[in-house]
Amino acid sequence: MWGIIATWRMALDGIEGAAKQLEEGGRADDAVEAAIREVEDFPYFKSVGYGGLPNEQMVVELDAAFMDGNTLSFGAVGALHDFANPVSVARALAADDANNLLVGEGADLFAERAGFERKAMLTDRAKVFYRKRLAEDEKRRQEGAALELGEPEAEQEAARGAGIASAPRGHDTVGAVCLDEQGLMTCATSTSGLFMKRPGRVGDSPIPGAGFYVDSEAGGAASTGLGEDVMKGCLAYEIVRLMGEGLHPQAACEQVVSAFSDKLTRRRGKAGDISFVAMDRAGRWGAASNLEGFSFVVQTQGSEPQVYLAHPQADGSCAHELASQEWQDAYMAARLAPVSE
Ligand code: GLY
Repeated sequence: MWGIIATWRMALDGIEGAAKQLEEGGRADDAVEAAIREVEDFPYFKSVGYGGLPNEQMVVELDAAFMDGNTLSFGAVGALHDFANPVSVARALAADDANNLLVGEGADLFAERAGFERKAMLTDRAKVFYRKRLAEDEKRRQEGAALELGEPEAEQEAARGAGIASAPRGHDTVGAVCLDEQGLMTCATSTSGLFMKRPGRVGDSPIPGAGFYVDSEAGGAASTGLGEDVMKGCLAYEIVRLMGEGLHPQAACEQVVSAFSDKLTRRRGKAGDISFVAMDRAGRWGAASNLEGFSFVVQTQGSEPQVYLAHPQADGSCAHELASQEWQDAYMAARLAPVSE
């Protein structure tokens, strides 16, 4: 049995390519890396790789991870700059017994020395989104100041000077879990993280146990969502642990996502977006989200690739609906639409 599952419709082409490899007896480590690279290379996805949106200094900082479920080896990078395929750098880091998670300059230095392809990852399109966002923030600030006429002028100036931008948003990670015919399971993630994040901010995607985890004796899980909230729960590890106890991946994802989302709401008054995909060692799969309409892609031996939409239910379960061709066309059209200042 082989199979692969990944977050978001953006993974479809990558999944199809990976599935071909698996069909021909390819390995899960090569297949999962190829699936993620395909997404990283596509310039119109704003949250992964080339074309990913920058931080508040207009610098693209990339997070990625790779894990081998046989050896439990993992490699990860945080805030990597200007390398074409962060997932491949992460995979290379998994080969060592130490220095497996590198960030910022250290990650850049490793990638450079290892001969990875350098590439300016900030596209003209991403620059337009950045400038539009600055203009929106400025407009909001001016409107806010106009509403606060009673406030002393000095305080208004201070608030402006602090450059407090509106909350960072947009955090769609591509995360995939893969099983090959030999029973090797792998997972990998890649993202440019939150748009307008602070320099050096690292999300859940390169953090083992939080944004990804895989154990070939149980299964694997990978997330997308607000990293700061996913990291509060070590959720990927928990889903894999439950699969290891025999839970179906769907039940494991639903239980973990809904219970943790409820906990955050109870304790903090709110929960960020949290979505997970998972596959177990038998090739059974699951996906759950607290976000209405989260999309994911799955292909298993003997089936075509399918794109689904997840619909969280009040009882904590998560229904799946096959995405129509119309929905998929609209998804791509939205990403390819021209942008102007
Ligand atoms: N889940 C991706 C991030 O928060 O950066």
